[in-house]
Amino acid sequence: MLSTLAPVGAVRVRAGPPLAGEVTVAGATKNSGLKQMAASLLVPGVTVLRNMPAVRDLDVMVEVLRAVGAAVEPDGPDVWCIDATGPLRPEAPYELVSRMRASINVLGPLVSRCGEARVAMPGGDNIGQRKLDMHLRGLEAMGASVEVHHGVIEARAPVLKGARVMLDYPSVGATENLLTAAVLAEGSTVIENAAREPEITDLSAFLNRMGAHVVGAGTSTIEVRGVTELSPVDSTIMGDRIEAGTLLMACGVAGGEITLRGVRLEHVEMVAIKLGEMGMRVSPTPDGIWAQAAGRLRAVDIATLPYPGFATDFMPMAVTLLAVSEGTGIVTENVFDNRFGFVGELIRMGADVRTDGRHAIVRGVERLSGCPVRATDVRAGAALALAGLAADGETVVHGWEHVARGYHDLAGTLRRLGADVEVV
Ligand code: EPU
Repeated sequence: MLSTLAPVGAVRVRAGPPLAGEVTVAGATKNSGLKQMAASLLVPGVTVLRNMPAVRDLDVMVEVLRAVGAAVEPDGPDVWCIDATGPLRPEAPYELVSRMRASINVLGPLVSRCGEARVAMPGGDNIGQRKLDMHLRGLEAMGASVEVHHGVIEARAPVLKGARVMLDYPSVGATENLLTAAVLAEGSTVIENAAREPEITDLSAFLNRMGAHVVGAGTSTIEVRGVTELSPVDSTIMGDRIEAGTLLMACGVAGGEITLRGVRLEHVEMVAIKLGEMGMRVSPTPDGIWAQAAGRLRAVDIATLPYPGFATDFMPMAVTLLAVSEGTGIVTENVFDNRFGFVGELIRMGADVRTDGRHAIVRGVERLSGCPVRATDVRAGAALALAGLAADGETVVHGWEHVARGYHDLAGTLRRLGADVEVV
């Protein structure tokens, strides 16, 4: 059984009163849970993952794990059991990998567990080229032979050996693949210039509880001392910091006062700092974040960077927020090479935005004008829905299935905060 999400084509948004209320942020299924699902392939036996609410990408990862021979079943609300006792077939076909890039996360665990893997190359997508060279070079440094034939990565390593790998950029996916490959390797692996995202820390904690020896997650140097055996565990996925940041920026767009539970302010610290500079109040609470936006915010400049910098996944929503703030802000996208595709739709809603390569100049207007728009990726769709909160009339965001890939019921969560948002 898959997560049985109802098909969702579009969402209608109307500007309403300021946001108000308290919600619990969903578990980070897409950016953390899927990685732990892939890492479950390292260990025979049944791994239990909790706080993994349904998102569309979860369905794809379930299919990928089943394709390689694991048994995957839901076990109550937001709980999934993965039995990777095997035997495993270390092959992830293009049909699945092309539907979701995170499928590439099975590469490291499969090479480690089976001594070989054939995983289709996912290719680029709506936000950029998204190369995999660092994943492949890292595996080679650990003794794997890696070749790409007819669009398929073929990696072989009867024995993976610990190595020092220096990434030329702190890639989240490469760090995760090498980390999971290193856990059962012979000797120690050191990943330098590693990604520091909280999802890497969540994955490392999961691996350590399985018996791995990972030191330094959350810093730029991660050391993995290889162990010979792991045991399956019962793990709870972290709260979704991207959903939290999205809701904070929704509050900035619509005004109001909201409380988020199940997320840590330090995971969205750079967003909170920017929102503070723009005129919002944002504070930690014992189990979450409180935020208030009174009146129109002031524009700031924003540049996306790897964690702890301003995450690229927040950039589209930040452009929406600047589009209705007072003054002009310059947004620089440093992570992906093609992430301003959604701006054309914002302009149709009356936003004053000019893009030039990696930069967008956003001149705030008082009000946007609702119209039908189309989402091209998960965060672009969220940004367009937020724009509808500050637009006259009705905004219908088509292509909402992109949003459902990564958010668990964003429309419902916004509605619980008083927004006029409805699935149509
Ligand atoms: N890159 C390379 N070579 C590589 C790996 C990456 O050139 O071998 C480049 C990419 O092309 C990109 C940059 O490095 O320009 C960053 O890529 P990274 O590997 O860090 O990203 P990712 O692992 O593919 C994850 C998230 C993204 C998020 C990025 C950055 C998941 C499933 N995806 O992607 O999430 O934007 O990290 O934080 O975790 C989203 O949620 O909307 C989303 C796109």
